[in-house]
Amino acid sequence: MANNSNLGAAKAAKNDEFYTQYADIQKEVNAYLEYNPDTFRDKTVLLPCDDPEWSNFTRFFAQNFERLGLKRLISTSYAVESKKYKDYQPTLFETESPLFDLDKTRIKGKIFELTRDTNGSGRIDIDDLEWHYLEGDGDFRSPEVCALRDQADIIVTNPPFSLFRPFLAWCVDAKKSILIIGNMNAVTYREVFPLIMENKLWYGPSISSGDREFMVPDSYPIEASGWRIDDKGKKYIRVKGVRWFTNLEHGRRHEPLKLMTMKDNLRFSKHKDLINTGYREYDNYQAIDVPYSDAIPSDYEGIMGVPITFFDKYCPEQFTILGATQRGCHDAVQDTRKYDDYWEVKPDGTPTGSSGNKTNENANLLGNDGKKNYFINKEGRIIQSAYQRIFIRKKQQS
Ligand SMILES: C[S@@+](CC[C@H](N)C(=O)[O-])C[C@H]1O[C@@H](n2cnc3c(N)ncnc32)[C@H](O)[C@@H]1O
Repeated sequence: MANNSNLGAAKAAKNDEFYTQYADIQKEVNAYLEYNPDTFRDKTVLLPCDDPEWSNFTRFFAQNFERLGLKRLISTSYAVESKKYKDYQPTLFETESPLFDLDKTRIKGKIFELTRDTNGSGRIDIDDLEWHYLEGDGDFRSPEVCALRDQADIIVTNPPFSLFRPFLAWCVDAKKSILIIGNMNAVTYREVFPLIMENKLWYGPSISSGDREFMVPDSYPIEASGWRIDDKGKKYIRVKGVRWFTNLEHGRRHEPLKLMTMKDNLRFSKHKDLINTGYREYDNYQAIDVPYSDAIPSDYEGIMGVPITFFDKYCPEQFTILGATQRGCHDAVQDTRKYDDYWEVKPDGTPTGSSGNKTNENANLLGNDGKKNYFINKEGRIIQSAYQRIFIRKKQQS
């Protein structure tokens, strides 16, 4: 029987083959153009980890080459034999090309480039794309794709889910502008959070809630809910928690969140549980728990712990980010208590067998809400952990 790590690997491999829809790319790119119409002007845009013949990234950037004012568009694909989830579907574009090579088609990556009007149509567009096989399989870490990265100004893609961290590092190490898709939880990764804190990376503007639909290979096994097949027989699944990650400027992140005072929140908040409990101090951090981003009190000067959905509304002129629980990212907000002599108990009272040290560095609150596991010590002191929290403080208005 497959063990859990095999299942996990299989799931990650399948999740690597999610294809982004044209409208999602268009909406995001247009938001940057609204802020600065020259965002892409005279730039070399690289689209790695793509399948240029049918990727919407390549289609969108090629079709809009002139409108965006691009200097050069490069996209690369990954050889099917190197993919964890193999689904060989050569396009007519490839098989009918004089460059088609039966020995290379499965084991080599491809590069597509657009720089000039090759067909004399008077404009540069998707019909002017030129292609050839790469020397290697198109792995973004290969020397030839690294060389393309070094020539690029902006890297845009939906990278493989299982390689989000190394992919981001690959872009950041080369000091490139980026626009990439990932899971919203990536903000708290050890490698990502410092970039967010230092205002070197942020969420893109067009997705801030709900889920997004991605195309998947025809042979993709559909087990989850939230999928459909369109009238051309293409399969799509809905994915939750998707966000764009970028260091391109956009206007939305400079719009301050509209907030009520603490007093007004405690009278008028739509979150009745907050009205009942009030803003509670953590047991192990000198900060208050704010369980909803829209309940951040506008007049609180101290440190607040907020959920990661805060990043959807984060305006760097309004708040300073001080750290995050759990990921060793809270040097500025030290934890004041450890729980090594506590043990974990299920809501029904049975011990789980885990020590309380597993909740060290979570944001913990005194008491038991009766809904989730709690931790208790021999004096009968009980605490529970909140979900992942980000520590923030209001910026002083100058
Ligand atoms: C999430 S899909 C996105 C494809 C495309 N960018 C899009 O959104 O339509 C990621 C692609 O990266 C490929 N990939 C996986 N590992 C790779 C690697 N090491 N180097 C380059 N591409 C890789 C996957 O096979 C998959 O085709």
